[in-house]
This record gives sequence, structure tokens and C-alpha cells, in this order.
Amino acid sequence: MTVTSPDAAARAAGILSRPVVINGLTVPNRIAMAPMTRMFSPGGVPGEDVVSYYSRRAAAGVGLIVTEGTYVGHESAGMSDRVPRFHGEEQLAGWAKVAEAVHAAGGTIVPQLWHIGMVREQGQAPYPEAPAVGPSGVRTDGTEGTGKAMTRADIDDVVAAFARAAADAERIGFDGVELHGAHGYLIDQFLWSGTNRRTDSYGGDPVARAKFAAEVVAAVRAAVSPEFPVVFRYSQWKQDAYDARLAETPQELEAILAPLAAAGVDAFHASTRRYWLPEFEDSDLNLAGWTKKLTGRPAITVGSVGLDGEFLEAFQGRGAGVGGLDDLLDRMERDEFDLVAVGRALLQDPDWAAKVLAGRFDELAPYDAASLRTLS
Ligand SMILES: Cc1cc2nc3c(=O)[nH]c(=O)nc-3n(C[C@H](O)[C@H](O)[C@H](O)COP(=O)(O)O)c2cc1C
Repeated sequence: MTVTSPDAAARAAGILSRPVVINGLTVPNRIAMAPMTRMFSPGGVPGEDVVSYYSRRAAAGVGLIVTEGTYVGHESAGMSDRVPRFHGEEQLAGWAKVAEAVHAAGGTIVPQLWHIGMVREQGQAPYPEAPAVGPSGVRTDGTEGTGKAMTRADIDDVVAAFARAAADAERIGFDGVELHGAHGYLIDQFLWSGTNRRTDSYGGDPVARAKFAAEVVAAVRAAVSPEFPVVFRYSQWKQDAYDARLAETPQELEAILAPLAAAGVDAFHASTRRYWLPEFEDSDLNLAGWTKKLTGRPAITVGSVGLDGEFLEAFQGRGAGVGGLDDLLDRMERDEFDLVAVGRALLQDPDWAAKVLAGRFDELAPYDAASLRTLS
């Protein structure tokens, strides 16, 4: 990725500032904020600093904010007392203020609903007594942890927790929900054969492995208004297994995504670490491009937009240089995907979207991993 070319400034405004429709929601432009766990919500309550963190970015041109992952109301959903929860009166009151402030700033916002499944370690907050649960009690690194293989009743409880959270999201003023089906957390643990070793109807071929996700989507869909957008985030890669793949071919991918689309997903968010990499042989399409082609639903791309190094390096304290945007604009012009989500660049610079939309590329700064430690 080289430096953005001079004519990209004019193109960026034209291409990225077009509104886009997801079910009943019109997003004012094509720039989304990627979900990023920040751990600045003690007791699971997003406070005033979280309100201003999100509303600053909406005021500076982000069309759609996907919040950090926020736990659904199931005791095994989480691993920290500083990650905001999407259940409980005080927690939801905090979130309502976030949504209101983002709307006042001209943006739209969806919470990312999260259950971590087998990533949970024994004794972790916010409910230390709760066990880790997953499809087969297997972790993403392949070890058999101290967790519990979910029974039918456990599955029903978790599905209901997602549905309650979605209903609450609509009630307190959010514009939709994103379901976290990516990165090796609970929903993805069902989707991926490495963690799903079930022999009942929730395990086996890709369609069976998608059954749990489809039940979550259907329950969420039934709990909200028909026009309320449901976004589904998924990934090939897993935490602890960066080379893992859900699907080796477009046909396998279609087998997983088609039941989810049929259950009521309005848009997919295809999480990759480098958006410019082709997903399968014989085509330039990235994962979001394939997702849109196979499902006919709007798709969000993500992964090192505006940067020349990928995000896992940030957790090793590594920064990244500014990357070019020409290829991204070319792909958007071809309608390969509909929105672009931006993570680290927006975490560091609240004004990133405004600068890009105005073609002020010379004001974009390299990414400094120190920005992970502050919320501003
Ligand atoms: C600090 C941090 C926290 C993250 N937390 C989440 C999360 O809660 N949910 C999620 O789906 N992805 C999460 N991600 C991944 C981002 O959403 C995004 O996919 C990734 O950072 C790649 O985008 P980027 O290269 O623009 O940073 C996180 C990334 C970072 C840097």
C-alpha cells in the first residue's frame, strides 16, 4: 500500500459520502467505526467518557458506529468487569446516553452483542462462579478447557439473552444491532469445526454448524421490529488460530451464510486483517466482496484501512504507517462492498473520517499503539 494519489482526494468525497440503506436505516455515509473493546466501563456501565468518545467520532463524520463488544445478559458471557454490559438498569441507562449523543452528533450506532464462550477463564469477572460454556468444551487453541459443552437448555438461555439484548437496543434508541459471530468467540465456536465437535444437530457440516447462529439471528429478528437492522459479523481467522478458515471455497462460505441471511441478517460485516487480500483463488474479491456476491446483502469490509500494518501487531505494541486509500476507493466504486469499517485509525484520531471525507490526507498520522491505553 503506497501513499494515496492526489486525485483520491476528490474521489474520496464522492465515493465515501454517499448514504447507504440497511433495512430501515439510512447510514449517512460509507465510513463505519469498527467495534473495539476498550475496558473503560467499570461495573459494566458506560460513563460520560464513553459517551464523548463515541459522539466525538460521530460529530467528525463517522456514518455508522459499531460499539465495542458488549456482553449479553448471560452469566458466562464475559471476562471483565470493565467491558460494558448490555443488560442491567444502570448499564442500559449508560448506553441510552451514548445512543442519544451519537444521534445528536448526526451519526448512527449499533451495539455489538457479545458472548465469549470458551475464551472465558475460570473465576473471571463479572460473575466469577459462572462456567465457561461452548459447543464442545474446546478452546480455540484446541485444548480441552475447564468449560462445559452446552446442553439444549444452555443454548436456549443464550439465544434468549441475545434476543433480550436486541429488544433492549431498540427500546433504548439504538439503530440496529451487530451480532459478534467472529474471532473465535461463542457464535464462531459453533461455526468453526475446530471448536465444534458436536454430534447432534448443531455439529457436522457447515449448515449444521451454522444452526446455532441462525437460531440467534431468528430470535433476535423476532424480538425487534421488521425494519430494525440486524448485522452479523464473522471472520475466517480465530483468536489463537490466525490461519484458521471457516470456509475453503465460495461454496462452503455460501453454505454457512445462506441460512443466516434466510434467518434475517440485513448486512454482513466480514472481518479480515487486511482488506486488500483476495479471499479465494481466481478472483480479486475480498471476504466482504464474496459475502455480498453470495448473499445479496450489503457488506462491510475492514482491516488495516488507512494503515500499512495489521491490528494484532498493535497488541504487541507495534505501530503502523499511513497506508494508501486508492485501492479501497476502486473497490467501493465497483460496489464490491458497501461500507468500510475503520478500527485503529479511528481509535487514535477521532477526526479521521472528517479528514478523509475532505481529502485532507496529509493530516493523517501514523498509528501509535500507545493510543490503546487512552479513551479520548
Ligand atoms: C483495541 C481493539 C479492540 C478490539 N475489540 C473488538 C471487539 O470488541 N469486537 C470485534 O469484533 N473486533 C474487535 N477488534 C477488531 C476490530 O474491530 C477490527 O476488526 C481490527 O482492529 C482491524 O481493523 P483496523 O486494522 O482498522 O484496526 C478490536 C481491535 C482493537 C485494535
